[in-house]
Amino acid sequence: MCGIVGAVGKAEVSPLLLEGLNRLAYRGYDSAGIATITQNGIDRRRAEGKLQNLVAKMANDPLPGTIGIGHTRWATHGGPTENNAHPHASDKVAVVHNGIIENYQELRDELSKHQVRFESETDTEVIVQLITHYINHGMTPIEASRKTLARLHGAFSLGIIFAGDENLICAARRGTPLAIGHGKDAMYIASDALALAPLTNQICYLSDGDFALLTAHKIEIYDDSGARVERPVRTSSLSADMIGKGEYRHFMLKEIHEQPEVLGDTINALMHPASGEVYLPEMTIDFAKINRLTITACGTAYYAGMVAKYWFEQIAKLPVELDIASEWRYRDVPVETSNAMLVISQSGETLDTLEALRLAKKNGYPSFAIINVPESTMAREADATVFTKAGPEIGVASTKAFTTQLATLAALTLHAAKLRGTITADNLRALTAHLREIPALMAEALRLEKEIKLIATDIHTARDVLYLGRGTMFPMAMEGALKLKEISYIHAEGYAAGEMKHGPIALIDEDVPVILLAPPDALLDKTLANMQEVAARGGKVLLISDSKGCTRGKRNAAWAIEMPACDPFIAPLLYALPIQLLAYHIAVLKGTDVDQPRNLAKAVTVE
Ligand code: G6P
Repeated sequence: MCGIVGAVGKAEVSPLLLEGLNRLAYRGYDSAGIATITQNGIDRRRAEGKLQNLVAKMANDPLPGTIGIGHTRWATHGGPTENNAHPHASDKVAVVHNGIIENYQELRDELSKHQVRFESETDTEVIVQLITHYINHGMTPIEASRKTLARLHGAFSLGIIFAGDENLICAARRGTPLAIGHGKDAMYIASDALALAPLTNQICYLSDGDFALLTAHKIEIYDDSGARVERPVRTSSLSADMIGKGEYRHFMLKEIHEQPEVLGDTINALMHPASGEVYLPEMTIDFAKINRLTITACGTAYYAGMVAKYWFEQIAKLPVELDIASEWRYRDVPVETSNAMLVISQSGETLDTLEALRLAKKNGYPSFAIINVPESTMAREADATVFTKAGPEIGVASTKAFTTQLATLAALTLHAAKLRGTITADNLRALTAHLREIPALMAEALRLEKEIKLIATDIHTARDVLYLGRGTMFPMAMEGALKLKEISYIHAEGYAAGEMKHGPIALIDEDVPVILLAPPDALLDKTLANMQEVAARGGKVLLISDSKGCTRGKRNAAWAIEMPACDPFIAPLLYALPIQLLAYHIAVLKGTDVDQPRNLAKAVTVE
């Protein structure tokens, strides 16, 4: 949820840490800070708000040192003030922390009895004070850190440095990710290998429970039993330029425009190179043997799962139980022996989804995951993983990760349908061919951007927006509303079009635009009838359909976007683009921070 970075070497570390933090800003941007060690002890600079504030501060007041740690924060305990910004420090130790210390209040009370004074409202500061307390009682920094770690409850990762030692970073991982970079005359830590891309491509990942000691030339890793272990060092394929915005004003816009390409990559990876058929050699779940599939995820990934429920049930005749991960975990669902668990996550780190996966495994469900970040925790823990090929997604609002999830789910559905004998060979061939049409159709749909931008000028002043759709367009309506809320802060709701008359219709007037997602499918007539109901009450509709649908519905619509014609099976993938572009252009007109919307973070590793 927060991003941590650290470096120990021979060069000045401040610029490296700032660059690393810049790459981690998607994990939180409430405040940022850096601490280094010099002969004079611990020194630090911290600033409230975006990283630029810290950069400006350090331009006037540089921070020397060849060892340091940095942090970008998404506030949990304590408001987003400079005082609560990391690194937290005493005169002996400085700490950066990602995650939550669940028993911090208990530890804080205990330390308060020893006259320890706290400077912040954070849970992190108990780590600083506890280590300091143990050092004051004669322990070495490493002993004090180990002893402190043993007392902490929760899911977290840590970077720790000590006054008087310019060649030691202690790092620990319990529940949230931590990558270690092996450089030339330097060692690094980071919440995400992406932060280290300009520094090194030699990366290893700490396993859960690991404690590591890093010096400029060496790393020692100990597992949770205290045994010395080796973690494999791999060459990361993340390159430094993957992070640039290129010709685009925002990462989100760049990522929207990357979709034809990354969808091509994702789909190609799911097809047999010779036969062109769906091909999932790594899939260990036998779809013919399961009676039900449970799908859990959070946010946009959940809506991808919701689209997939329609597909799995209609095409593979496989009943799907779908739930938000934070609900499913605590719902005490009866365990069925012939069930399997599918989790969907861009980051592979979202805590609720990860815990749902762990619970499913505990219940004996075979599990598989659709993940975008290859080295993530879920990818390691699921029985099988299918990777989307979206590449790094930096914009907090998910776009290309969502559509690559949909493509993967569509391919999985066809795979399951084949194994379950619920699809004819002709139909399988036809649907596979439609899936392959996606990149070209997306490229065509992106040409509608100018028109969508114009429509955005009419809609951006609205206070509320309603999105409607039927079938797979219902989850797409929810996703459309989520995109708009996230980045433009306009209140929006996604509804099943047929359900509108049971409540939302009361909201309809000329000030509440209605976005109707209506690709010509078996339900088009019914959806267009819902549009008439809106128009009859003075509501203004933006109709998104193809030429056939637009011809039939245009006269009742205030605006229309004429999409390329496509088979209804792949319509969710294609119709994602106008809703993304609409949200984007509305947000730009409103002047919001599109890539880093307020209060949100990209990877949510807290409950
Ligand atoms: C956050 C992000 C969303 C994302 C959700 C799930 O809320 O802002 O964009 O959909 O987490 O993230 P995941 O990495 O599990 O897909």
